[in-house]
Amino acid sequence: MNILLLGSGGREHAMAWKIVQSPKLSQLFIAPGNPGTASLGTNLPIAADNFPALKNAVLENKIDLVVVGPEDPLVKGIVNFFADDDELKNIPVVGPNKVGAQLEGSKDFSKQFMFRHNIPTAGYLSVTKEDIAEGIEFLKKMQPPYVLKADGLAAGKGVLILNDLDETISELKAMLAGKFGTASKTVVIEEFLSGIECSVFVITDGKNYKILPEAKDYKRIGERDKGLNTGGMGAVSPVPFADAEFMRKVDERIIKPTIDGLNSEGIVYKGFIFFGLIKVNNEPFTIEYNARMGDPETEVVMLRIKSDFVDLLEGVASGNLNEKMIQIDDRSAVTVMLVSGGYPEEFEKGKIISGLESVDGSIVFHAGTALKDGNIVTNGGRVIAVSSYGSTKAEALALSFKNAKKIRFDKKYLRSDIGFDL
Ligand code: AMP
Ligand code: GLY
Repeated sequence: MNILLLGSGGREHAMAWKIVQSPKLSQLFIAPGNPGTASLGTNLPIAADNFPALKNAVLENKIDLVVVGPEDPLVKGIVNFFADDDELKNIPVVGPNKVGAQLEGSKDFSKQFMFRHNIPTAGYLSVTKEDIAEGIEFLKKMQPPYVLKADGLAAGKGVLILNDLDETISELKAMLAGKFGTASKTVVIEEFLSGIECSVFVITDGKNYKILPEAKDYKRIGERDKGLNTGGMGAVSPVPFADAEFMRKVDERIIKPTIDGLNSEGIVYKGFIFFGLIKVNNEPFTIEYNARMGDPETEVVMLRIKSDFVDLLEGVASGNLNEKMIQIDDRSAVTVMLVSGGYPEEFEKGKIISGLESVDGSIVFHAGTALKDGNIVTNGGRVIAVSSYGSTKAEALALSFKNAKKIRFDKKYLRSDIGFDL
């Protein structure tokens, strides 16, 4: 079959790496892809949210299945666009429709959903400009730290965690006044949960689901989880504290009620669900949902799926995921992200990347690179993910760090403490 994968980051390079291992694949296309995916398939210079151009490409290249990497096309309704088009309606898209994608696209929607289905999560109140007074009252009754979240997509920047009440109130006002544009017209005020986080992923055909390997990502720019939030500086799988007993609770209290809840509300959800979880006193709570795979978690999750990934994607498309097998690799997988100096604040692009050919024993995934005058150059904050297997986490990390050293570009930065807390 011919597959079109949408996106251009490390997540998509990792998915492409796994997809091309399948004997079921004829041709892989990636839109828009990156120099890494170009070595595995055909990059098409089309933005992942340019639906009319994607339609032409799907028809021209006889695409049998579309896989959506990032959230943006999902929230904008790519699944509905295909379903409503006579020429596209029989081509399956792995990803939720516009309503399902609201699990990620609206924090208020996802909190209401979790409460309707008794899924453990932090207490909250959603406020708009009109009921700001109630919001302030709610905050006054809470203990610090205070959690404020922009309702809509805010490129990972829409969550504030503050200790001072007055500062929180003025931030609440600023958010409602448009600090994050329309994304913060509604703000979710949440109870703070203290614990250790991990990411759990599910692939579902709407009724049946398979739990993919769990992972822990490292979001802060600085070592020991200090400094600003990033898209993710590295990831580890498996996560030792997500043991069988914890995962049983996650499945019973969170995953199953989520799938059943979607069904009972008539929301057809075929795709990935990313559960951002926190373990509080041994009990799992849901921090957030995403309607896609995580990045950089995918750069370890793909390594640990032993079975044919395309077979699972087919199961989603055909609605018979229950007949599919998923085999997980017992080894540890880690990824270490090489980023541009200055990220997540100002950074320069266009730095020549050298040493990629000397990497030995790790798998290099391109996250933010471009091809310029015959050179691979930096083209984003997160540049390259170096993923490795190991019989232990320590062994996998040592290999990634050894290879990360061989890859050079001006102002390269990485966190050398990935996995430190496990
Ligand atoms: P979110 O975008 O909702 O995942 O929030 C981003 C990050 O903020 C999470 O990964 C947590 O580290 C933190 N966070 C969000 N909500 C809470 C909460 N209720 N309690 C504690 N930390 C939180
Ligand atoms: N690594 C977190 C995310 O993909 O949102």
